[in-house]
Amino acid sequence: MLLIDGKTVSNKIKLELEEIIKKDNLTPGLGIILIGDREDSKVYVNMKKKACSKIGIRNIDVKLDVDVREDSLIKEVIRMNENDNIHGILIQLPLPKHINTQNVLSKVSIKKDVDGFHSCSMGNLALNTDSKYFAPCTPEGCMELLRRYKINVEGKNVVVIGKSNIVGMPLSLMLMNKDATVTVCHIKTKNLKMHTKNADIIFCACGVPNLINKEYLKQDVVIIDIGINKIPINEQHDCKDKKYKIVGDVDFEDVKEIVSAITPVPGGVGPMTIATLLKHTVEACIEANKEN
Ligand code: GUN
Repeated sequence: MLLIDGKTVSNKIKLELEEIIKKDNLTPGLGIILIGDREDSKVYVNMKKKACSKIGIRNIDVKLDVDVREDSLIKEVIRMNENDNIHGILIQLPLPKHINTQNVLSKVSIKKDVDGFHSCSMGNLALNTDSKYFAPCTPEGCMELLRRYKINVEGKNVVVIGKSNIVGMPLSLMLMNKDATVTVCHIKTKNLKMHTKNADIIFCACGVPNLINKEYLKQDVVIIDIGINKIPINEQHDCKDKKYKIVGDVDFEDVKEIVSAITPVPGGVGPMTIATLLKHTVEACIEANKEN
C-alpha cells in the first residue's frame, strides 16, 4: 500500500515558494476576511496565516462580527481589491446564513481570486480554458498529489463523494478535464456502494467520519480522503477535558489492506490546500508585478 504523503509534498512546495520569494525579492500579500467566531474557521485561518508568515507572505486580516451587513462585508472586499499590497483575497467560508455567499465571492477581483470561488474562475474551470485564473485550492491540491505520485485518471472510473462548491463540484470538473469517467455521489445518492465498488479512484469529501470501509471498495482502489472530522476520543459525554482527534471520511485501518494507495488524515490533502493557496498568492503577486 502506497501512502500518499501530502505533508511532505506540501513542505516541498512551500520551500520552492520561499526560494522564489527571496530570489525575486517579492512582497506577496494575502488579505484574509474572517466573519464570526466559528472555532473551525478560526483554526483554519490561523493555520493559513502561520503558513504565510513562514515563507514570507504578508497577511492582512480583517475580522468582522457574525451579524455584519452584506454591504459592509462587500466594502471590505472592495478595499482589499484596491490595495496594491494585497495580491490574493481569502474570505473564510462558510459565511453566516443572512449573507449571499456567491454575491460576496464574486466581488473579489478575479486577479486576486486565489480561492477560485468567483463565478468567472469557476466558469473558466468548467469550460477548461487556458485562463490564468485560479481554481479552488483543495481540489487543485488533490490533483497535484495525483500528478506527483504519477496516478493517471484518464479513462478511469472515478467516484467523487460530495458535491460542494468548495470541493466536490470543482473537483469533478478537474477530473473531467483530465478525461476521467466521473460519477458524483452525494447525500441523495441511492446505493452508494454500487458506485464505489466499481471505482478505480475515490475522492471522499462528504464530512461523514469513517463512512467508507472495505465493504465499499474493490481491490487496489486509490483513495483520496478529503474529510476533516473532529471526533471525541473519550466516550464520557460529561467529561470536562474532552479530547478530540481528527479523522477522515474513510476508515483507514479497515481499508488499508485493500487499497493500492491512500492519503492519511491528517497529513494528506489538508496541507496541500494551504500550499496551493500560498502558490496562488505568489503567482498573483508575480502577475501584478508584470503589470506595473
Ligand atoms: N472553508 C472550508 N474550506 C475552505 C477553503 O478552501 N477556502 C475558504 N475560503 N474557506 C473554506
